Amino acid sequence: MNILVTGANGFAGRHLVERLKVSGYTVLTPKIDLLNATETEVVISKHEFNGVIHLAAMAEVGTSLISPAKILRNNIFAQLNLLETLRRRKSAAKVLIICSADEYGGSQGELIDENTPLMPASPYAVSKVAQDFLGLQYFLSYGLNIIRLRPFNHIGEGQRTGFVVPDFVRQIVDIERSGSPNEIVVGNLEAIRDFTDVKDMVRAYELALTKGQAGEVYNVGSGQGIKISYLLQELIKMSKAKIKITVDKSRFRPGESPQLVCNPGKFIRATGWKPEIPLNKTLERVLEYWRSN
Ligand code: GDD
Repeated sequence: MNILVTGANGFAGRHLVERLKVSGYTVLTPKIDLLNATETEVVISKHEFNGVIHLAAMAEVGTSLISPAKILRNNIFAQLNLLETLRRRKSAAKVLIICSADEYGGSQGELIDENTPLMPASPYAVSKVAQDFLGLQYFLSYGLNIIRLRPFNHIGEGQRTGFVVPDFVRQIVDIERSGSPNEIVVGNLEAIRDFTDVKDMVRAYELALTKGQAGEVYNVGSGQGIKISYLLQELIKMSKAKIKITVDKSRFRPGESPQLVCNPGKFIRATGWKPEIPLNKTLERVLEYWRSN
């Protein structure tokens, strides 16, 4: 199978390409400005593929609240240009669209399944709802083989600051190096999220593409709710440095969900996927990664 991956140089993209190559796929990662419709068509038309994983997108929730237009334009139009090219080429490829658990945003409830109402609580989340529903529309209107995935939080080496784990780890490593200031500044520690190792997550992407059914949408996550304060305490325990925690209310996000935890049942039934890497192992690896980079 030849798989075309967009966003191959991003955080999840790099892990995904590595995974797909180990699994024996031919991976195509052409350089394309997806915001340029003509370039998208010209570049993609040069390649033969039977799978597409569309990852290219801006992913930072916090930044999207500061610059909403940029993320909406980028995420929606990049995907539109990709889907238009596939529609015009009458592509029979299986296409995996990477959406987000953040689409459920303000939804309440214990475990979130695919029937939980969408309640986007950030411009990023709105862009992901649009990507999700564009994917559904191109399946319904044109019969493209589109599968949609709503991943919950994923963490690992190569994730940039702006996300909670790198934000915490970078500050811990700075304190270890310089000894001062010995203060870590954080946002909302009361939120509960569902964390999966990026390596388990990209394995889910591969399974979604190969075993998922066109027209369907699947939630992917561990099913375990983790309080952000727990993440912070675990990371601090892994360091010898003395660290003082300062909560900065200006880092809180308006209207963010207190709890987003996945019910991955539908995806597990469809693919047999299960996360394998324990959270603490991932946190240790990320800390080591930042210490040596
Ligand atoms: N980034 C960040 N930095 N978040 C913090 C901090 C901090 O210093 N302190 C507390 N938090 C809280 C946030 O308020 C949020 O409740 C939680 O930690 C996780 O924040 P992020 O890592 O920024 O992720 P996210 O949940 O907003 O979104 C991530 O997951 C989505 C899937 O559920 C991103 O990876 C999205 O791209 C992804 O779609």
